[in-house]
Amino acid sequence: MNDDVRKYIYGALTVFVVGVLVWVGFLFVNACGFSLACNRGASSVDRTPVPTLLPANLPVMQGGETTASDQCRVAAIDLLGAWVEAGSPETDAFQFIDVNGQNCESTFDEVKPLFIESNLWYSGSRSCVTCHGADVAAASAQLDLSTYAGIIAGSRRANAESNGTDILGAGTWESSLLYDFVMTDKAGVSGHDDIASNLLIFAGKALPAPDPTTTPSPVVEATATPTP
Ligand code: HEC
Repeated sequence: MNDDVRKYIYGALTVFVVGVLVWVGFLFVNACGFSLACNRGASSVDRTPVPTLLPANLPVMQGGETTASDQCRVAAIDLLGAWVEAGSPETDAFQFIDVNGQNCESTFDEVKPLFIESNLWYSGSRSCVTCHGADVAAASAQLDLSTYAGIIAGSRRANAESNGTDILGAGTWESSLLYDFVMTDKAGVSGHDDIASNLLIFAGKALPAPDPTTTPSPVVEATATPTP
């Protein structure tokens, strides 16, 4: 190879490398100035909103006062129980006591996702409606948990028009089929063999402290025992 060509190639390479270095240097100085203690490249902290059903399994903050938020924290199972004990209202609010002993109020809107969301009761859990879906004939136990009407109509329904077995224990939570099938492991029943969960969720909002001059309204006591 002829020396001129070699010089030409080396020259071009040098110009390229120097160009890249200058460019990187330019970007750095542009972003950071002449400081080496600059961390503009560090990824920024994401602020995540707190969804209503965020599982709140983190330990309670020590020494922390209750936060400014008026959301309540409750075991999902206790929220279900309070709803059933209140006569399972479709739109009316029902009350419950949250894990911090506050009086709280919620509606069916916050109960419904417990049946519909997957990955909720425990990591990787299937939603109830994957098996207990809107097609009554095809649904496990002919139970449709996808709508309020379906939940009320119960299980073992002959068809989409008829009611079946009440799963809500006629308003007595602990004697309900729902309680039984959500609280107790049913070995061999897929979807119920590992369902018992002490999931805590954010739900409802705190009620103002009861006025001592008026009679306090009755509140359903949360009683579920967390399973190990
Ligand atoms: C993988 C499928 C599957 C999932 C997911 C599932 N189930 Fe079931 N469920 C069944 C089957 C199957 C039965 C019937 C068991 C039997 O015949 O004893 C049943 C029975 C029930 C029953 C009793 C009905 C009756 O009359 O015996 C209730 C209540 C119930 N499920 C509620 C739920 C709830 C609430 C969820 C969600 C937290 C859920 N299921 C998730 C499959 C499932």
